[in-house]
Amino acid sequence: MPVIAVAAQKLSKVYPGGHYGLRDISITVRAGEMVGILGPSGAGKTTFFRLLNGALRPTAGSLTVLGRPMGQVSTKDLRRLRRRMAFVYQHHNLAPTMSVAHNVLAGCLGTYSLPQTVRSLVALLPQERERVWAVLKQLGMVDKMYRRADELSGGEQQRVALARALISRPELLLADEPIASVDVKTAATVLESLRELNARQGTTVLLNLHQVDFALQHCSRLLVLSAGRLMYDGEPEGIKEMHIYGENRRHALR
Ligand SMILES: Nc1ncnc2c1ncn2[C@@H]1O[C@H](COP(=O)(O)OP(=O)(O)O)[C@@H](O)[C@H]1O
Ligand SMILES: [Mg+2]
Repeated sequence: MPVIAVAAQKLSKVYPGGHYGLRDISITVRAGEMVGILGPSGAGKTTFFRLLNGALRPTAGSLTVLGRPMGQVSTKDLRRLRRRMAFVYQHHNLAPTMSVAHNVLAGCLGTYSLPQTVRSLVALLPQERERVWAVLKQLGMVDKMYRRADELSGGEQQRVALARALISRPELLLADEPIASVDVKTAATVLESLRELNARQGTTVLLNLHQVDFALQHCSRLLVLSAGRLMYDGEPEGIKEMHIYGENRRHALR
């Protein structure tokens, strides 16, 4: 695993029409860090993630992810790179009528052939069952393994989505507002699971949030984006001095 997980140098993304998604961002994230990215809606957080996963190409500057320069990465290399990464989104997009086990296993399908995929939809092999069990255990969800996804609470579904991301043992996990649509208690559980994963497996975690409180509590390093620019990069304590950390701090960034 490379020592540097993400390196951005004067990275910019200009959308068609001339609108800046990101402007001159320079950041280095070492492997094993857990970094929270804060910023109001429209700050460029998702743009940054889409550059990291290769869905967008940089307009200017350079970006290296897990040792790969993203500016000229080939489709084949990108596919290979994405297998080393996992994604968690605000909306978990589980297959509602399928079991938790099948939904979690879906996190491995990127490495499966078509026949393997079809077979896995019918029945799980013993070793697949074991793998799913192990990751669900980590998240305290073993008892839900054979339940249908749509029978679970919203918070449980978000944890299934996290299990689906973790089963491939990613080197880099990108979580884009994973707690934006869950209650406060679930949000804490999801963030604790991420932190544990980070500590236990050494997975590099980048986490987009707009709740300042949670970021302060769970991340050891914070970046703040505003209008596509990097406004802060450092320890959580430091942002208390910034104007975004106002009286109504939970909602300060909405
Ligand atoms: N596909 C797009 N085309 C044009 N502008 C976009 C597109 N996606 C995002 N933007 C703009 O880029 C800026 C950053 O957006 P985004 O990365 O989605 O912010 P965030 O995730 O922090 O809310 C916003 O001003 C947004 O309107
Ligand atoms: Mg976004």
